[in-house]
Amino acid sequence: MNLPNLHEAKLRTKKESKIIKDDYKIPNDMKNIGKNKKYYIKTYGCQMNVHDSENISAILEDMGYTKTDDLNKADIILLNTCAIRENAHNKMFGFLGRVKHLKESKNDIICGICGCMAQEENVVESIKNKYKWVDIVFGTHNLHKFPNILKESLDKNEQEIDVFSIEGDIYENIPVKRDSKYKAWVNIMLGCDKFCTYCIVPYTRGKQRSRMPVDIINEVKDLVKNGYKEVTLLGQNVNAYGKDLNINYTMGDLLLDVSKTGIDRIRFVTSHPWDFNDKMIDIISKCDNIMPYIHLPLQSGSNKILKLMGRRYTKEKYIELFNKIKNKIPNVSITTDIIVAFPGETEEDFNETLDVVNTCKFDSAFSFIYSPREGTPAAKMKNSLTEEEKNNRLYKLNELINKFANEANQKYKDKIVPVLLESVSEKKDNLMGYTDTMKLVNVKASEKYLGEIVNVKITDVKTWSLDGEIVEE
Ligand code: 5AD
Ligand code: SF4
Repeated sequence: MNLPNLHEAKLRTKKESKIIKDDYKIPNDMKNIGKNKKYYIKTYGCQMNVHDSENISAILEDMGYTKTDDLNKADIILLNTCAIRENAHNKMFGFLGRVKHLKESKNDIICGICGCMAQEENVVESIKNKYKWVDIVFGTHNLHKFPNILKESLDKNEQEIDVFSIEGDIYENIPVKRDSKYKAWVNIMLGCDKFCTYCIVPYTRGKQRSRMPVDIINEVKDLVKNGYKEVTLLGQNVNAYGKDLNINYTMGDLLLDVSKTGIDRIRFVTSHPWDFNDKMIDIISKCDNIMPYIHLPLQSGSNKILKLMGRRYTKEKYIELFNKIKNKIPNVSITTDIIVAFPGETEEDFNETLDVVNTCKFDSAFSFIYSPREGTPAAKMKNSLTEEEKNNRLYKLNELINKFANEANQKYKDKIVPVLLESVSEKKDNLMGYTDTMKLVNVKASEKYLGEIVNVKITDVKTWSLDGEIVEE
């Protein structure tokens, strides 16, 4: 048994991360364990987690399991969890209740918990003591060891917890079963060293480790060969890509090299304003296959709060960068993340956030009420706001965000825009996809267009989506 340790998760040393290419092996007696059996994965949180679930799916299929979307038919159920806010915790424990129910009626169901919550000391303590029926727990650093962990649990017929609080290495060659045939997630870096005072990620995902450029480029080249149209380069702080490699190669260089693979569309998330440099902006503006869409988290518009958050920029610097991006990249859309009710946020501080939103008029934004995460510096800061005040601030902010999202979408009315049609929409006889600027569009089109980038005339505009029709050439 290996349990997570918050103190160790915080450590950063000068130790170089290793690139490990041959650590994924399925024990012989586990190769057919899933024959005629089904797996179900529930994924919470960010794209990094979604992509991890694609790895876990492939590992399960290597053991003979097949996928089901019906929880009741599953023989093995995995919860790939998110630790970012308390409500992600609550949702996962709520779902665990349903799984317990199933396990009571069918005892040989296997239940596993992995992802960011598995890296949290208090969570694992509670699973160990109060959820003894959960079979396995593994973390973000050892998901490729999942077959071995499952074997331990089955052999010993007891709960197996295997979580490491380490800075982390880079594992290549973990299999992947992608959810889409047209767009793919590609990790370019793991972990984060920014340690914003509210954020749990540097503890759950380890130190910043960039993958080697050649491994990333080869992965993208392979995707192109297999007909993929879009890649999203993933990392907690992608603009800092390469800084840990000591090879004088940064995010701008990577974007240029990925652009040269000829893939139709390139996106990247998430950006921290601190590392967003002119070279990147220049390359994005010059390469047609790098999409004019940037997610640039603001978090707060008050310099006092930004300082308490440890964000390393002022609102003036943020606006300067925002304007530079808007001026240099034609037609760019910019979205953001904002936290309200951070400890110490006064009405004045909150109004400053509204001011910045009024200035930037974001295409869209994710807004959150601050949620204290055990072990982070902000969790120790005093917060005297009532729940009602917190909710009021969120409500007020959302009204403004919605207003600007609607205004940004209105500009698309009657325009012709390129859309990658990626799936069948819930609306009858419609496909759905995204514009280059990441606007969701429902398009009247037959399924033969799936996976195509088509020109679409926008016929109707809503706050969160657009409707359109294909323009025949
Ligand atoms: N409370 C509320 N929101 C948070 N985020 C990160 N940590 C917290 C927290 N403790 C938000 C940030 C980040 C997004 C992914 O989640 O806005 O950009
Ligand atoms: Fe992703 Fe962050 Fe949630 Fe972890 S805590 S799954 S990194 S959003």
